[in-house]
Amino acid sequence: MLMVGRKLLRLYLLIIYYLMNEFLKSVLLKLSRLQRKGTIRLLLVCFLLKLLSIERRMQEKLSIHGAWSSRWVFIMAATGSAVGLGNIWKFPYITGENGGGAFVLVYLICILLVGIPIMVSEVLIGRRGRQSPINSMKDLAVESGLSRKWSLAGWMGAIAGVMIFSFYSIVAGWVLYYVAGMANGEFIDIGSEMAGKKFEALLADAQTLLIWHTVFVLMVMIVVAGGVNKGLERATRIMMPALFVLLFVLLGYSMTSGAFGQGFDFLFHFDPSELTWNSVLVALGHSFFTLSLGMGSIMAYGSYMPKKSSIGGTVVMIALLDTLVALVAGLAIFPIVFANQLDPGAGPGLMFITLPVAFGQMPGGQIFGFLFFVLIAVAAWTSAISLMEPAVAWMVEKFGIKRLPACTALGFLVWALGIACLGSFNFMSDLKIGSMTFFDLMDFATANVMLPLGGLFIAIFAGWKIKQSVLKDELSMQNHFWFSAWYVAIRFIAPVAVAAIFALNLYNKFTV
Ligand code: TRP
Repeated sequence: MLMVGRKLLRLYLLIIYYLMNEFLKSVLLKLSRLQRKGTIRLLLVCFLLKLLSIERRMQEKLSIHGAWSSRWVFIMAATGSAVGLGNIWKFPYITGENGGGAFVLVYLICILLVGIPIMVSEVLIGRRGRQSPINSMKDLAVESGLSRKWSLAGWMGAIAGVMIFSFYSIVAGWVLYYVAGMANGEFIDIGSEMAGKKFEALLADAQTLLIWHTVFVLMVMIVVAGGVNKGLERATRIMMPALFVLLFVLLGYSMTSGAFGQGFDFLFHFDPSELTWNSVLVALGHSFFTLSLGMGSIMAYGSYMPKKSSIGGTVVMIALLDTLVALVAGLAIFPIVFANQLDPGAGPGLMFITLPVAFGQMPGGQIFGFLFFVLIAVAAWTSAISLMEPAVAWMVEKFGIKRLPACTALGFLVWALGIACLGSFNFMSDLKIGSMTFFDLMDFATANVMLPLGGLFIAIFAGWKIKQSVLKDELSMQNHFWFSAWYVAIRFIAPVAVAAIFALNLYNKFTV
């Protein structure tokens, strides 16, 4: 049977080939009577093939907002979104608080089993929908015969982006303040007590906070207003290489002037006795935040991705780069901390209080301290851009306006919300909403409620609701094994794990 089938197929192909050849010959004959010149015929074949590929590209739906000019740009842009304050500020300090090695291992497992599968789903939904997350979710739901209400997940994401931005911008403002401070030599020979006081004084000074918050909002909005190619892509092309160069310069510095062995050991020794359920929870939650998942950042970026690139390989690359930056940041920070007998478990102040102390005492510390804060500012910048993109893209689609007015309107909104966040440290510090300041509330409501919920919806949508044929078409994974592995992870492992963080986080919050 099989043999006959194959023979028939070959015959069929031969006939097609013959017909095509005849067709080409007759075209040639009519055009120029050059039928005997083989090279010209070859050129014509190439030309026709090119026409075919152009036509295919035209048939492929593209986003009205533009498209990345290559797969590599997409990887860099998504890495820019993922690598941010989460990697350089939060990862080292939560690793310090949770005892090091064993925590890092759990975090890596979470990236693999939950982060990567959800990221694949976000890119897939975005690239299939080719619109802002809100409209992509809606169209895909309709395509699979589901309710349009799925776009609510996109809505929650866009709103979460605005909320995250409002406090992210305040922390980024602190970073900018430290960039300027390092440049002015304000931290030379500073002791830890003085450094703590300086940080407190900054928090109490609403005016200074407002200035740097405003600067950061403007920096981000200018890029987003430039659009996908002239804004996002251009910024990516300049900032991402700079970020990697800076990171490795700093790693080299800490390898030579810090207690590198001790720092390395702290990050990679494995002692399961230090692991608590709470650290597992923190690791899972962080794997989510650090990969920019759950609110549509990656989905929006995916909608500008070229069709022919493979989603699986690309996502693995982004996750690897993000993890690499977090680990290198840890390897750059802990040796400095240990060389100066500082406490790795110092908490959120690790970066803003202990590091200036460390840099202030070391040879060349001023210049390297300055570079370090520039690095964090760049990382925060490329992340914040992706926080705004879903909402801006939606406004452009919905109201048919240009990017600039959309960015101006949203810019004012996040700026105003940001003022309420910075007030939490001074003029509004008495305002408590369920024992949280406004700043804490924005952080809690997004990172612990809206992002996990968004991730859960995305996992259920991709794993249980979208037609399998659509999934296979978009993923076009040659290897059946990888598709099955992803499918199991997105249907079972990710939703259960995310539902668990979500429930446990709320439980912890309201009982402890
Ligand atoms: N991933 C970024 C960081 O590590 C922050 C970020 C950007 C983010 N876009 C996001 C977090 C979307 C959650 C969701 O700092």
